[in-house]
Amino acid sequence: MLCFLFKCPGYLQFVLVLVALPHFTCDDSSRCPSACVCRADGAVRCVGDTVTDVPQLLPPDTYLLELNGTRITVIKERDLMKKDLLLRFSLTYSSLNTIHPQAFHLGPPLRSVRLSYNYLNTLPDSVFRQLTTLEQLYLNGNQFEVIGSDQLTGLTNLVALDLSRNKLTYLDSDVFQGLKNLTFLNLCRNFLKRLPTTVFNSLTNLQELHIYNNELEVLQAGLFDQLVNLRELQLYHNKITTLAPQVFWSLQKLTVLSLSSNQLTSIPEKSFYNMPRLTKLTIYKNPLLFLPEQLMGNMPEIQVFYLFSTNLTTVPGNLFTNMSGLLELNFHLNEKLKELPPDLFCCLRNLKKLSLKSNNLHDLEPQLFSRLPALKLLFLNDNKLRRLPENIFRGIAGVLTINLSKNLLTTLPGDIFQSNTALRSLSLSDNPWDCTCNIRVLARWIARHNAVVTDKNYVMCESPLYQMLRRVDSLPDEEFNVCDVTTYFPSNTDLDKSTQPLFTSTQNTIPPTTTTTTTTTTTTTTTTTTTTTTTTTTTTPEITTPEIRPSSKDTQNLNILTTTSRGSTSPASWTLTTQAEVTSTMSTMSTLHVFYDVLVIGWGPEFVHHNIHSGWVYVWFLPSDTAWTASLMFCHVFLLTTGLVFILASIYVMNLLDKTMDELNPRH
Ligand SMILES: *[C@@H]1O[C@H](CO)[C@@H](O)[C@H](O)[C@H]1NC(C)=O
Ligand SMILES: *[C@@H]1O[C@H](CO)[C@@H](O)[C@H](O)[C@H]1NC(C)=O
Ligand SMILES: *[C@@H]1O[C@H](CO)[C@@H](O)[C@H](O)[C@H]1NC(C)=O
Ligand SMILES: *[C@@H]1O[C@H](CO)[C@@H](O)[C@H](O)[C@H]1NC(C)=O
Ligand SMILES: *[C@@H]1O[C@H](CO)[C@@H](O)[C@H](O)[C@H]1NC(C)=O
Repeated sequence: MLCFLFKCPGYLQFVLVLVALPHFTCDDSSRCPSACVCRADGAVRCVGDTVTDVPQLLPPDTYLLELNGTRITVIKERDLMKKDLLLRFSLTYSSLNTIHPQAFHLGPPLRSVRLSYNYLNTLPDSVFRQLTTLEQLYLNGNQFEVIGSDQLTGLTNLVALDLSRNKLTYLDSDVFQGLKNLTFLNLCRNFLKRLPTTVFNSLTNLQELHIYNNELEVLQAGLFDQLVNLRELQLYHNKITTLAPQVFWSLQKLTVLSLSSNQLTSIPEKSFYNMPRLTKLTIYKNPLLFLPEQLMGNMPEIQVFYLFSTNLTTVPGNLFTNMSGLLELNFHLNEKLKELPPDLFCCLRNLKKLSLKSNNLHDLEPQLFSRLPALKLLFLNDNKLRRLPENIFRGIAGVLTINLSKNLLTTLPGDIFQSNTALRSLSLSDNPWDCTCNIRVLARWIARHNAVVTDKNYVMCESPLYQMLRRVDSLPDEEFNVCDVTTYFPSNTDLDKSTQPLFTSTQNTIPPTTTTTTTTTTTTTTTTTTTTTTTTTTTTPEITTPEIRPSSKDTQNLNILTTTSRGSTSPASWTLTTQAEVTSTMSTMSTLHVFYDVLVIGWGPEFVHHNIHSGWVYVWFLPSDTAWTASLMFCHVFLLTTGLVFILASIYVMNLLDKTMDELNPRH
């Protein structure tokens, strides 16, 4: 009050202020140093490079002093004196490189000290010894290479210690000795290669331990044995190649464990046993080659599991059986993951999101998703799927999103999404859709559920040639009328046999025997002339326009449908069949269908041949797969050449024999 009387000009003002603010003690602003902001609640913040020393005179009720972005280089012996109410001291983003050994001894009993982002590379021994009240110590973002065993002594009440972003390569085994109350320890972003086995032994109250972004190579047995209260352990981004068996077994209260981005190629059996409270586990980005049969102990509260970017080719069928609480499973980006066991996802009754994208999956088991009643999002995009079992989505009635984009699908069973009544987003683009009769039911489904197929503009036919680049949803159903020829579409099981000859038969269950005699139909009509021209101009190995040759009625009711094609001789000369031609052919076909009983059209046969044998028409084909053709060609040339060589050789030998005979003869 006295100061006020002296400093304020005029009695009147004094009275006014006194009346207005009855509890106003002293004009604090008079003590607020320049470059500082002093708040009425006792927080003082000083910012900027005009600040070169810890301010001495502060409002007496200052409990928090925050110095940021200053040019202070030293905390001097007396800098913290006479700040009796100060509890929190923060000097950050400054040039600090030296602390006087007594600086914290003469100061008030601080609760927190933050010296982050400075240039400290060492601390005087026992510098904090007097600070038995200290709860938080932040030394992150400095230049420490070593923290000696007596630099943290006395901090018996310390709760949080941050040593991240330093240059630590090594820790004394007793550096944390006595920090019995420590619950949070951050050692991340240092260069620690190995940890002394007993280094964490005193930290029985530790709840969070961050050691990510270091260079750890081994987690040796016993390292975490005393951390019985640990909730969170972050070990990602190290170089860990080896986990000791049971190294985590004491961590029974653990809720988060992250081991991602390490060098693990295998994980010891039962490593994740005894963690009943685990909610999040990550082991992604490890070159894992296999996982043991017993890995996951009972962890009913697990919600998120990441397992991506590994070298796994498959996983044990029981991998997830103990992870029944999972909500989200990110099991993707495993370039080598080719197979999944049939019951892999059996017990995940809460799973909402399943991402299997960007794996190397070729086939899926029919019951793979049958026990995922809560599934909403399913990502299968970017795999090598060629087909899907008919009932694969039957169990996931509530699914909202399915992504099948970027696979090798040529068609899908038309009713595959029948039970997925909640489906809102389906992606089908980037697949080589085969727009022959096989796609009819699917095309019809897409046309009917246009809003669901979110990428319908990019769901394109890739074969046959005359359909190329048409949108599957734009194929009018009438175009497929020709398929009504009681056409039998190969089911998935038949696809497996697609290399076998396909045959046509009358409605007769006896499988016809394949004949090898080729028969040529000589009858031609006006309709065939157009189509024949089409096929001859088309010189890609794709199937081209079906060619119809209605036979004369006298040939014992024989009806033939052939599909012709040409081997690729000059790729430059191929032309697309025009739509008009196709349609005309198709309509001809549909008028003809009365002649056929059952017609089997194969899976894009490249060279289709037909044979007639006792009233049956057999259609068979040779794949014109380039490798096939090449090897056949090779055999052909090889046989020819060897034959030629033999002939030449025998001529030569005969010649030789002849000469010898001639030489011998005159002597006798
Ligand atoms: C302290 O300064 C740094 C850089 O000068 C800035 O990024 C940071 O936000 C500041 N912190 C506070 C609490 O003002
Ligand atoms: C530290 O631990 C002691 C006894 O274990 C306890 O009495 C004290 O309250 C703890 N201090 C803090 C800040 O938690
Ligand atoms: C599931 O957890 C229980 C209890 O921890 C364990 O006995 C069992 O072997 C585990 N199952 C698998 C497949 O690891
Ligand atoms: C894992 O796969 C990557 C990429 O294919 C490869 O470079 C690496 O050598 C593999 N690691 C092991 C341990 O097989
Ligand atoms: C589906 O997958 C494709 C290919 O990976 C991707 O580009 C697209 O964004 C995905 N769409 C949805 C809706 O997830």
